[in-house]
Amino acid sequence: MSNLLRTKPMSMLTQEAAEQGEHTLKRSLGAVNLITLGIGAVIGAGIFVLTGQAAARYAGPAVALSFVLAGFTCAFAGLCYAEFASIIPIAGSAYTYGYATLGELVAWIIGWDLVLEYAFGAATVASGWSGYFNSLLQQWGIYIPPQLTASTGTPLVFYQHQWLPVMSLPPGVTDVGLQHATGFINLIAMGVVMLITAILVIGIKESANFNSAIVIIKLGIVGVFLAIGGYFLFKHPDVAKMNWHPFIPPKDANGNFGWGGIPKGASRIFFAYIGFDAVSTAAQEAKKPQRDMPIGILGSLGVCTVLYILVSMVLTGLVSYKTLDVGAPVALGIDATGVSWGSMLVKIGAVFGLATVMLVMLLGQTRVFYSMSKDQLLPKWASAIHPKFRTPWITTIVFGAFAAIMPAFLPIDRLADLVNIGTLLAFTIVCAGVWVLRVRHPNLNRPFKTPFVPVIPALGILSAVYLMSQLAAITWEVMIGWLLFGLIIYFGYSQKHSKVQQMTEAQVAQGD
Ligand code: ALA
Repeated sequence: MSNLLRTKPMSMLTQEAAEQGEHTLKRSLGAVNLITLGIGAVIGAGIFVLTGQAAARYAGPAVALSFVLAGFTCAFAGLCYAEFASIIPIAGSAYTYGYATLGELVAWIIGWDLVLEYAFGAATVASGWSGYFNSLLQQWGIYIPPQLTASTGTPLVFYQHQWLPVMSLPPGVTDVGLQHATGFINLIAMGVVMLITAILVIGIKESANFNSAIVIIKLGIVGVFLAIGGYFLFKHPDVAKMNWHPFIPPKDANGNFGWGGIPKGASRIFFAYIGFDAVSTAAQEAKKPQRDMPIGILGSLGVCTVLYILVSMVLTGLVSYKTLDVGAPVALGIDATGVSWGSMLVKIGAVFGLATVMLVMLLGQTRVFYSMSKDQLLPKWASAIHPKFRTPWITTIVFGAFAAIMPAFLPIDRLADLVNIGTLLAFTIVCAGVWVLRVRHPNLNRPFKTPFVPVIPALGILSAVYLMSQLAAITWEVMIGWLLFGLIIYFGYSQKHSKVQQMTEAQVAQGD
């Protein structure tokens, strides 16, 4: 049992963080790259799609308060991530922090759990991306055979010059009398993931530059939405007053809305915040991680929190929350202002925005597996570095293929909740880890210190567990099944090969 609780010695971690040379990752990212990396991962399907659903189904205009609630959960966790990333600037993120504090078994569980966040996250977003992209193509008169644009078995209809999933038909419209088709393979989702995988293999700096360029466009489009929508509401305060009233709609027969609708909405739109933590996976590629990691993590989280609260306020002011349960709610909102080019602009923003989310998610995934392989919990190929590009190319291609195949064949509507629960579990362990490390190593040099320990980590744990408790039983069951599958690999392979397990008790104690 004690072997399972073995922690990775701090001296070993600091030594790995200091490694240089062509067999290691390249340190080339500055503070601005890291903030844009965070924003690149965060602003995506969550704000462009899920905000509308959460408002229409659970919280009404009070979805803005759901954003505040989820924002607090993320801020508590973000402060803990920032402390860890400044002390242990290694690519493994939560996995490495777990290894340093709570032992190998917990580290394995969290590393395996991060697949739910990053690889499944990238796959989920690829599916959303293909919907937006195909809608744009059709708007421009370019039609790909519908069977090649949706995952296997998805029922599609031709409505208002567009092929779209039956379930995306506006409320009140039936598919009777419309032309039908059935999805066979989603080649668009596959194609975009393959393209992003290629960029990731070519280089971290190239990936970061691609991301920064797109983040500027994405922020610009969110800014345009806020400006047009905000100006409209300023000119038509009666519209805003009508739509915002009642701000917290009364509870319905299913237990939605009312005060209880706010946390329900928060557990759904939590997806919108996911990604700021992925900045920590780039710690080994940061030039000055001690200084820049906290800036990257907390800076990107701060920018996105403010934008999300504003977007949700403006959106629910422009149109009644009841109409927002559609595939492109933000486009619907801008349509209500009468600005005819607005919806096209929002769709372009979503296409760009979602591309960088996939990029950073896949980046995060490969860096976690890189670290796990370095620790010999996974085979060597997972940490093989390309001699020219200095990226973990094999693992990038393997996960790229995984993330490309999933949305190609599987309908993945419910995957977002799985991504949420996986991330919340990681947050819980990171918060616990900060607390444990303060007790075990009170005098460690901490370039960034989480304030008010243990209050902030405790609040982080409580709020993450609370949001997890709001998710459906099936989501819990799938996560537990996934983790059990991971344990089979751990006991069948990882424990036997682990570098730390091969060290003697004395060596571990000496390095700690
Ligand atoms: N936060 C990311 C998104 O909303 C995952 O797409």
